[in-house]
Amino acid sequence: MAGGHSTYKPSTGFERWIDKRLPLPRLMYDSFVAYPVPRNLNYAYTFGGILSIMLVAQILTGIVLAMHYTSDTGIAFQSVEKIMRDVNSGWLLRYLHANGASMFFIAVYVHIFRGLYYGSYKAPRELLWILGCIIYLLMMATAFMGYVLPWGQMSFWGATVITGFFTAIPLVGEWIQQLLLGGFAVDNPTLNRFFSLHYLLPFMIAGVVVLHVWALHVTGQTNPTGIEVKSKTDTVAFTPYATLKDAFAMVVFFIVFAYFVFYIPNFLGHPDNYIQADPLKTPAHIVPEWYFLPFYAILRAITFNVGPIDSKLGGVLAMFGAIAVLFIVPWLDTSKVRSASYRPWYRLFFWLFVVDSIFLGWLGSRPAEGTYVIMAQGATLYYFAFFIVIMPVLGLLETPRRQPGSITEAVLARHGGGAAALPDSANAAPEKTV
Ligand code: HEM
Repeated sequence: MAGGHSTYKPSTGFERWIDKRLPLPRLMYDSFVAYPVPRNLNYAYTFGGILSIMLVAQILTGIVLAMHYTSDTGIAFQSVEKIMRDVNSGWLLRYLHANGASMFFIAVYVHIFRGLYYGSYKAPRELLWILGCIIYLLMMATAFMGYVLPWGQMSFWGATVITGFFTAIPLVGEWIQQLLLGGFAVDNPTLNRFFSLHYLLPFMIAGVVVLHVWALHVTGQTNPTGIEVKSKTDTVAFTPYATLKDAFAMVVFFIVFAYFVFYIPNFLGHPDNYIQADPLKTPAHIVPEWYFLPFYAILRAITFNVGPIDSKLGGVLAMFGAIAVLFIVPWLDTSKVRSASYRPWYRLFFWLFVVDSIFLGWLGSRPAEGTYVIMAQGATLYYFAFFIVIMPVLGLLETPRRQPGSITEAVLARHGGGAAALPDSANAAPEKTV
């Protein structure tokens, strides 16, 4: 995956034998040991690694859960209860998987906001960003289908509401809905196909992650200054420098994860999902999982018709538009300066955008009535204005602060040292040891 010249030197006969036939150790060494990364990466850059580990954790816990789960509407709910009570460490597996989904989304949101702050999507990293957006879409589909599997009240009614949106699409809407449901209502065929797809999609995510990391290794990582690597002193070897930093961040992240799993395992879930699905009893409020709430608020903010587009279709278009707009971010940002560190106005609007997204999330958990709707309309307006108006216009108008000449210069300026502050050994790829 690493671009450029390989520095791998097989040291034993066996390694030379492998290297001539399938140079996998060379690929791993060039990509994850000698690979040069900017020396000034901060902890915001550790979330890609955290996401990779979380993906593996979700797949492993999911595979074992699937050994005990039954995707039949008659016993799906009971099979989950059996996992919780009778399967050895079943409660742990389930809590790890359910809370793991939330932790995965926390990590992905930090990762996306980091990208928006440091302009990670700008040329030549557009494809890297778009691959990330595809991963995000696949993650949402996977999480949505996973939530239906325990066959609780929220599973059933959430699926009913979400699949119902598709009927707003003219001509093909009902056909799409029936294809998703496997019939005319959420029922056994729905549960079966959701289970099948919930098992499949994580492996598709893994495939896109490989492309994502490949694209990353072609363009190289950005860094908080936004200035590209210019010389050898701007970088350090991935191992041990980035590896250790990533490992430390993962340990901290896993402590938080463990706190949720062992102390408040149901904090992020909805109590109604411990009631078996009942098609004849609608819950008082149907709310999706927390990570969908901002989009749910946008969907319900459109309460008016716009020309031939009625409010239902308008809501669905706004919701999908809120995700679709992410794909074109590389072309919406017109600024010549990459990092928000040197863009005071962009920084202000960016943090407002973060607050706006959290506010939308809170509004998504409220009933869609009265002032909540008006506030959601204002917050939706800012959400779209940030991408469609602020990004392109601000890039042309804003006068950025002076940028340092190089990453090395920025590091030295921060630490007040001279050239001696950068030992040559820090740049050299470590000699490979067996
Ligand atoms: C399963 C989900 C994902 C995994 C495993 C993953 C993995 C990674 C890794 C390992 C890195 C390098 C380390 C870092 O910069 O943090 C990275 C960088 C990056 N990711 Fe992701 N990623 C995921 C999702 C996303 C999403 C959803 C987006 C955007 C919508 C995205 C956009 C980017 C960008 C633009 C970079 C380059 C950062 C830079 O160099 O400034 N990723 N990703």
